[in-house]
Amino acid sequence: MATIPAVKQFSDRMGRIEVSATMAVVAEAAKMKAAGADMVEFGAGEPHFPTPQHIKDAAIDAIQKNFTKYTPVPGIMELRTAIVKRHGADFGSDYKPEETVVSTGGKLSLFNAIQVLVDHGDEVILPVPYWVSFKDIIEYAGGRCVYVRTSEADGFRLTADMIERQITSRTRAMVINSPNNPSGAVISSEDHTAILKLAHKRGIYVISDECYVYLNFSGHDFSAGSVTDAREHIVVVGSLSKTYSMTGWRLGYTLAPLPVSNAIAKLQSQNTSSTAHMIQKAAVAAVTGPQECVGQMKAEYIRLRDQILGELARIPKITCVRPEGAFYVYPNVSAYIGRSGIKSAADIAHRLLHEAHVVTVPGEAFGTTEHIRLSYATTPGEITRGLDRMREWFAKLG
Ligand SMILES: Cc1ncc(COP(=O)(O)O)c(C=O)c1O
Repeated sequence: MATIPAVKQFSDRMGRIEVSATMAVVAEAAKMKAAGADMVEFGAGEPHFPTPQHIKDAAIDAIQKNFTKYTPVPGIMELRTAIVKRHGADFGSDYKPEETVVSTGGKLSLFNAIQVLVDHGDEVILPVPYWVSFKDIIEYAGGRCVYVRTSEADGFRLTADMIERQITSRTRAMVINSPNNPSGAVISSEDHTAILKLAHKRGIYVISDECYVYLNFSGHDFSAGSVTDAREHIVVVGSLSKTYSMTGWRLGYTLAPLPVSNAIAKLQSQNTSSTAHMIQKAAVAAVTGPQECVGQMKAEYIRLRDQILGELARIPKITCVRPEGAFYVYPNVSAYIGRSGIKSAADIAHRLLHEAHVVTVPGEAFGTTEHIRLSYATTPGEITRGLDRMREWFAKLG
């Protein structure tokens, strides 16, 4: 009798990825909230500010004027020109409008860039801690992550030497992220430049995720795009999400040499086409309009960072590197692992969620085992409420 062959349900590549850990935590917390729990949310990486009014007005105006149709795949020229001008003015880069491709969010830009550059078996260097999605996006493309562990004792510093030690004949690219999610670490402009020059010399692409580039508190703003003599191997991933508090609008972009940009546009022509027309019009208003809102939000994040660091310092045995950017703290909670049945940072995040109703993300999602991540993009009152609960909860562990 003929046997019926087993039918597999999904493609092999689906087996290589997980649901984003941050999204999973946020979904779990939302369920608890819907069931009536009073949660304090430090989980999602999302600004708490409303989108500035002039950007909202531009979107409404665009809809009224019927900017509601398909646009060219890489975006309208008005926006591509505005993006490269803004970037040039702020960071000293010299990209042409044709070298930027607008997409439906920084995550899609990153996904497209990695799909375009990384083949099966290629090695991609990934510093740890890393943003959750880097690993999955690389592996989905068939790449193999080669981790570079940074040291907490050294403020999670990343240097060219650390990267050079991991380069092999299979190294195709590296993904770096400064300011960093989850640690808030900023790569110094000297280290950053040395990394870019090393990569260029060795023919390796640097995908520089600069989602938080406008939330750099170190006083030394820096974009990889400014290192023009290594530009052939640099792909800058940008996003309006955090800069202008526009997470839900979904607008990101890449800045890359023309052949890479053309390849990204080719891929995008087969996945999303363009991002929505009225959103692109709003993005023009964001990048060409008044920029005071960006500085005001950044000043508030610095105040919130200082507050949360002060409150964390009141919890015995928790240490935390002072973040120099983004809006996350990444405290080390290892002193509590081994107490009260706790085996991991994931256990701590899980029990904080269910017992203290405080939402955090375990370090395991970012490649480390001793930390939890808290987003402080929230109000000072929520920070106090959440940290009071955490202090009480950790005190009970003894
Ligand atoms: C490091 C990093 N890169 C990229 C993104 C994606 O941002 P978006 O897709 O909203 O532009 C995020 C979002 O949290 C992030 O933290």
